[in-house]
Amino acid sequence: MPRSGIRAFMDLAWAAGDVIHLEVGEPNFATPPHVVEAAHRAALNGSTKYVPNAGVPELRTAIADKLRQRNSIAEARPDDVVVTVGGAEALYVSLLAMVEPGDGVLIPDPGWPNFRMIATLVGAEQQPYRLRPEDSFLPSLDELDRAATSATRAVIVNSPSNPLGTVLDCHRASELLGWAAKRGIWVVSDECYDELVYIDGAKSLASLPGAECVVSCFSFSKTYAMTGWRVGYVHASRPDVVDLITKLQEPVIACVNAPAQAAAIAALTGPQEVVAGMRDAYRRRRDAAASLLRSHGVSVLEPAGAFYLWVDTAPWADDDWQLAHDLLTNSRVAVAPGSAFGAGGRGFLRLSLATEESVLLEGCRKILGHLSP
Ligand SMILES: Cc1ncc(COP(=O)(O)O)c(C=O)c1O
Repeated sequence: MPRSGIRAFMDLAWAAGDVIHLEVGEPNFATPPHVVEAAHRAALNGSTKYVPNAGVPELRTAIADKLRQRNSIAEARPDDVVVTVGGAEALYVSLLAMVEPGDGVLIPDPGWPNFRMIATLVGAEQQPYRLRPEDSFLPSLDELDRAATSATRAVIVNSPSNPLGTVLDCHRASELLGWAAKRGIWVVSDECYDELVYIDGAKSLASLPGAECVVSCFSFSKTYAMTGWRVGYVHASRPDVVDLITKLQEPVIACVNAPAQAAAIAALTGPQEVVAGMRDAYRRRRDAAASLLRSHGVSVLEPAGAFYLWVDTAPWADDDWQLAHDLLTNSRVAVAPGSAFGAGGRGFLRLSLATEESVLLEGCRKILGHLSP
């Protein structure tokens, strides 16, 4: 089992004591109070027992409404949804359902390290496909063709992307669906940052024509600052896929924590200004940090979604692990080294914007001080 390089740096940063944390994708906002209160009330009222494998009906209904209204998945029904332990378990049970040991899974590189870990868990062959600067760090059919083999059963697509912040446009998304359909492979679409998008025109893959092969994974973690509640969900339009994933829930988790599901209902059905407020804050931080770094000649990929800055440090240091270590030890700033996200991340650092703006900018100044003393 490969170790997550982000977690490795989190552990080092915690051990180092008083440092600026830009390594972790954890919103610095508190879970909205009405969400916490809903869980409290549910627990006091006796929602402390097992619930259905696929999730409580009220939550599946609220999720289906959300998928129709906010993700434009016109046909989404409560029966198409399985509630999971965060996006992480959504991805795990989706791949468990799609893939047999020895099958190939196409994984974005750079991409979230857990994709590789989950592929390992299901016994799949990892088939990294490069996201290249010349393709604006978006999936290209050439790269997919290069990475795919006759054993390939699924492709993981992540939009908005962690670590890149890139967002698939409609044209590329349709192209990708056509490519997968022609090869007869599943598309596992990780959309855990779906509501943290700063541009117009972002599309959920499942909202496009020809999306029968898409299994989509979503999360409450980032949208509602609910990382510790562990609630996410899978959407699939094919009943056989939903049935299989529902069955898999039993041996893996049985069901998601009942008070946390009450919290998720409150998050979806309550005021959405909380989401807009957090999104605006991430956008402001993105603009401030990118402009500070750029004004000192550091090249930064401006994220169209999610809350990360992808910083090109190759002109200063080709070993990003060493650079991240040096930043932690000498400048007291924790960052995630680019190669933690795959070979394609070499020479980059990922900075999290999920940190208060003044702290983020202080961290950027320290990085600049280290790069050009
Ligand atoms: C790309 C991506 N997908 C999925 C997740 C899963 O998050 P969670 O399990 O908290 O929903 C994360 C968390 O960092 C992520 O970055």
